[in-house]
Amino acid sequence: MGLKGKKIILGVTGSIAAYKSAFLTRLLIKAGAEVQIIMSASAFDFITPLTLATLSKRPVLSQFQNDNTGVWTNHVELGLWADLFLVAPISANTLSKFANGICDNLLSATYLSARCPVMIAPAMDLDMYQHPSVQSNIQKLKSFGNILLDAESGELASGLSGQGRMMEPENILSKVEDFFSSREDFSGKKVLITMGPTQEALDPVRYISNHSSGKMGLALANAFLARGAEVFVVSGPIYLTVNKAGVHWNDVTSAKEMYEAASEIHSQVDICVFAAAVADYAPSEVAPEKIKKDNTSLSISLVKNVDIAAELGARKKQGQIHVGFALETENEAENAKIKLSKKNLDLVVLNSMKESGAGFQVDTNKVHIFHSSGLSVQSEVAPKNQIADLILDQIKNIPVWV
Ligand code: CTP
Repeated sequence: MGLKGKKIILGVTGSIAAYKSAFLTRLLIKAGAEVQIIMSASAFDFITPLTLATLSKRPVLSQFQNDNTGVWTNHVELGLWADLFLVAPISANTLSKFANGICDNLLSATYLSARCPVMIAPAMDLDMYQHPSVQSNIQKLKSFGNILLDAESGELASGLSGQGRMMEPENILSKVEDFFSSREDFSGKKVLITMGPTQEALDPVRYISNHSSGKMGLALANAFLARGAEVFVVSGPIYLTVNKAGVHWNDVTSAKEMYEAASEIHSQVDICVFAAAVADYAPSEVAPEKIKKDNTSLSISLVKNVDIAAELGARKKQGQIHVGFALETENEAENAKIKLSKKNLDLVVLNSMKESGAGFQVDTNKVHIFHSSGLSVQSEVAPKNQIADLILDQIKNIPVWV
C-alpha cells in the first residue's frame, strides 16, 4: 500500500540521526505522501533545510515568522492539515517539551495543536535513553496515545553500543504504511454521527441545555474519517475548533432539528452513532418575547422531545448498525443494557459519571461497551481519540459487520 494523498508533518530535531531524516523524507515522498518538514533550531546543526526542502518539495518551516515579513506560520492550521505528525528523530529535549506542554518553538506548538495521530522515533545515547526522566516522558506520551517507534540497538554516535539508534527509515516507512492501511478498514462505509448538546428555546434569549462539549462525537468523526469512512455529522451547538473538511456537516440547535436532519440522512448510511446529549424535554411553548421577572416564582411546562435513537432504531434496516451512548449515575450496566433493546441498538457505550477523567468537557474518557450479543469490553481512562478507535474496533465485532 502506498501513502498517496496522506499528509504528513515530519518533525526533525537536534540529533546525529537527523541525517536519516533525508532518507526518510525521500521514502515518504516516493510512497506518495505530502510531507511538510518542521525543524527545531538545533536540527540546523545536523542537517540543512535546503536538503530537506529539496527532498520534500516544500519549504521547510521552523519559526513562527520568517524573515520579519510579518507572515505568521499558523501552527493550528498545520496541526489540522496533517493526517500524521511524525517526529524522527525526536531528541530527549523535544520529548520533554511534548510530555510537559512546553511550547517554545513551531514544532512544539504544532504538536499541541495537532488533532491527528502522533508517532515519535527517539534517538539518543543509551544512557540518556534509559534515564528514568526520559523513560517517564516516553510513558507520558504513550499515555496521551502517541505511538512510540522504539529506538533500535546498535552502534551509537558516542562509540558506545546499545539501545538508542533511531529506527531505520525503511522500518519507519513500513510502520507508517501499516498504520494507514490498518486504518482504511471503514472505507466504503457511510456513517451518521449525532453529537453535542441540543438547546431548547424558552424565549428569544434563553434555552435549556446540558454540559455536552461534543468532544467524544468529534473524536468519533475523526476516527471514522481517518479509517476511510464517509462521515455525516449532525451537531448541536459546540464550541470547539473543528476541521469540517471532508465531512458532511450539519449544524442544528434543537432536538427537533437534530431529528429532522438525522432522519434525512439515516436511510443512506451503514452505521449510525448517537453520540448527542439530546435534551429529553423542551419547553411546551417558546415565549415570543423575553420572559420578564415579574413574579416571585416561575414554572415552566416541558414536553418530551423525540427520542432520535429510538425513532431511527424502529426504522433500522437489515445490515445497518446502530450505536448509542448511555450516561448513568446508578445501576449503570443494567440501565445501559436496557437501552440496547429499547432503542434497537447493536452496541451501547456506557460513560460513567463516577470516574474522574470521564464524562463531559474532559479530553479523556472511560467506557464500558455492551453488545446486543452479550459481549462486553471495558476500557481504561484514555484520550477520547483512543476510546473512539476502541468503539470502531468493537463495531467490527458486530455480527452484521461485513
Ligand atoms: N438519545 C436520542 N434522543 C433523545 C435522547 C437520547 O437520540 N431524545 C440517544 C443518545 O444520543 C444516546 C442514547 O439515546 O445515544 C441514550 O441517551 P441517554 O440520555 O443516556 O438516555 P435517555 O434515553 O435520554 O434516557 P434517560 O435520560 O432516562 O436515562
